[in-house]
Amino acid sequence: MSTTIKDVARVSGVSIATVSRVINETGYVKESTRKRVLEAVRVLGYSPSYPARSLSSGSTRIVGAVFPDISNPFFPAVARGIDDALTARGYLLIICNTDNDATQEEALVGMLLGQRVDGIVFVAGGPESGALVRRASRDVPVALIDREIGGVECDAVTCDNYNGAYEMTRHLLELGHRRIAFISGPPNLSTSRKRLAGFRDCLMHSGIADPPHVYYGDLKYETGRSIAREMLDSGQGTTAVFAANDLMALGAERCFTDAGVLVPARMAVAGYDDILMASLSRPSLTTVAQPAYRMGAVAAEMLLERLGASGDAARAPARLEVLETALVVRDSTGGGRLSS
Ligand code: RIB
Repeated sequence: MSTTIKDVARVSGVSIATVSRVINETGYVKESTRKRVLEAVRVLGYSPSYPARSLSSGSTRIVGAVFPDISNPFFPAVARGIDDALTARGYLLIICNTDNDATQEEALVGMLLGQRVDGIVFVAGGPESGALVRRASRDVPVALIDREIGGVECDAVTCDNYNGAYEMTRHLLELGHRRIAFISGPPNLSTSRKRLAGFRDCLMHSGIADPPHVYYGDLKYETGRSIAREMLDSGQGTTAVFAANDLMALGAERCFTDAGVLVPARMAVAGYDDILMASLSRPSLTTVAQPAYRMGAVAAEMLLERLGASGDAARAPARLEVLETALVVRDSTGGGRLSS
């Protein structure tokens, strides 16, 4: 027979209402009483019934997180930041994967709302997610991560994608590269557009008149590999490739290595994200580090602030946090000047 809230009340010598206030962190309880109740919970091994608890408190203490591709190591790092922030405050996290599919996004958000989650952290598959986010945010607080969506009033945290790409391009130019190809992510993503803009503007500000070769990929490893093959077959004389994420950069690096094109001596390769594989690859990958864990933690904190707010504070204008990136120079660009 499992322990009930009545057993906890009896052992700690308080009312059921007091036990409920301690467990749900609602209302005032004297510190000595709180400690006595928590000790009884521990000794008896009591675990509150979530459905019963949510009926009484109106909160399930469950948050949903929607990601476009959890097979990409960037997103689990974000998820860890979300999870650490939420579990520290007694929340449970449900992680959903949409495979960048709008229909799947719609279905999963519907399931999360059906589970009466208290809030949703959302990495959009594209701007078409806007209508879905607007609808969901009428029911629960939504915090956006990474990809920005126009026309939605939600808290959001992203990184300085323009400057991150600008600084990487400057690094390649300082190494003597002039024919640099860019492998962009999907053009419908805000992160793709800002990185491409940073790349183009740095070339322009540096007086590089020739239009660069720009390719568009889907942020996956095999796509980077196939685009690199296309690049080699085109004979366009590129000496450096900058990919809008590490998986595509690592795919390109693999293609060059398999084709006997020495990296970085004959072809420099740069990525974006700084996933663990970037430092493990050989040659190790020069990249733009995004604070993935911190992005997740900041988004979770934004959501928790909304959930804990009331009155005007709950209706405060949406906040946008833009975090800094960092250039990480490794072997794939050599760090030394381009050999003539
Ligand atoms: O690798 C996944 C990419 O999609 C990351 O660069 C992240 O910023 C997102 O836009």
